Amino acid sequence: MTNNPGIDLTDVELFVDGKHTEALEWLRAHAPIYRNEGGDGNTFWALTRYDDVLWAYREHALFGSARGAILGGSFRSEDDTAGNRMLVASDLPRHRLLKQQIHPALAASVVARVTEQVRVLIDAAVERMVAQGGADVATEIATELPAGALMVVMGIDHAEAHHLIGLTRRMVGFRDETFVDTGGDQKLRLAWLQAEIFEFFAELLAQRRTRTGDDLLSVLSRARLNGRPLSEEDIFYNCMNVAVGGNETSSYTACLGLEALIAHPEQYERLRQSPDLLPSAVEEMLRWGSVNAYVQRVVKQDVERDGVLLRAGESVTLWNVSANRDETQFPDAHLFDVGRSPNRHLSYGAGIHRCIGAPVAQTELLLLFERLIPISGRFALAGEVRRLRSNFILGTTSLPVEIR
Ligand code: HEM
Repeated sequence: MTNNPGIDLTDVELFVDGKHTEALEWLRAHAPIYRNEGGDGNTFWALTRYDDVLWAYREHALFGSARGAILGGSFRSEDDTAGNRMLVASDLPRHRLLKQQIHPALAASVVARVTEQVRVLIDAAVERMVAQGGADVATEIATELPAGALMVVMGIDHAEAHHLIGLTRRMVGFRDETFVDTGGDQKLRLAWLQAEIFEFFAELLAQRRTRTGDDLLSVLSRARLNGRPLSEEDIFYNCMNVAVGGNETSSYTACLGLEALIAHPEQYERLRQSPDLLPSAVEEMLRWGSVNAYVQRVVKQDVERDGVLLRAGESVTLWNVSANRDETQFPDAHLFDVGRSPNRHLSYGAGIHRCIGAPVAQTELLLLFERLIPISGRFALAGEVRRLRSNFILGTTSLPVEIR
């Protein structure tokens, strides 16, 4: 069967129930360049094979980012104000200029300070968990990863970092009643959430005007693009990009990583016996979790691939979560293997937009699991695991565990 099987990748239930794995496997085998007729009125192409996804990431001249990475979400149409203003939603040459300006705020020296800050927070949180015999890892432990990163990158205190995490969590979880009231108009809700985030950054920016430093807001307020400063709105968009890019992804990967260890006790044991496997275990958690399920591109000029014509102006989605389970790239792709090597997963994307925060995420995840793995006793689930209602970010909103 190669005709349309009725799979709709905008159907959030598919992801909440975990049935997307099966659906994407079917698409890889039968319709790797799939025309998704979305129930929400969106029609787009879905690339699900590793080679096709990597091809589209690399062909940034054919596949533009100005429509934003999210389908039908906040940064949807090209006339949306975010197009070509925010790093992730910009094309060359502006993307290169913006990236040069943002990069110092995520440079190696910053990552070293993030490491120190995250270590302090994780030590305290894990100590509390051990004393209590367990915790909800999603809300009590994992959120300390982005909190530590934000404290350094944005130059804010712990309470402000958690306030900002609360705001971005609502934005990413805009369809989830854990975070927002899902009644009313979705577009209005998103606009409101974005305004709240901008307000937060506006206050910080006002403070930075008198007390400048090497944090992202200070760096962006000094930035010059073709000799001109960034507008305040452009500064807010790019701060939001870093916050949304970093707050949900690494903490949700941490949850999926721990859950995978609990579900695969032999891999958990292997890692306990051979802690030198930790770096490859973290890579496997990134592949396994594929928290950023897909990214969107827009076709810039007609292009044919395997007999399928993709027309200029159409939306194309690159499914990381599917490419990362492609057997042609990953032998026994359905197995969680902490020693997997090579492991060229696409969880951070690829090409010019490859995640600029990857070194921050790596240090966060390594620190956490370095601290969790040697704990005496074993982690076990202690209640219902709850998933974020999203097809874009595969999140875990509750992960109750106990130490047995
Ligand atoms: C496990 C953690 C993470 C995952 C899975 C992840 C995933 C991704 C992916 C797939 C992209 C590519 C988007 C595209 O091609 O359209 C991306 C870009 C980006 N990420 Fe991450 N990310 C993570 C952590 C972070 C962190 C910690 C930060 C910031 C501190 C961050 C900030 C960004 C930014 C600013 C971009 C845009 C880069 C560009 O367009 O050039 N991410 N991320």
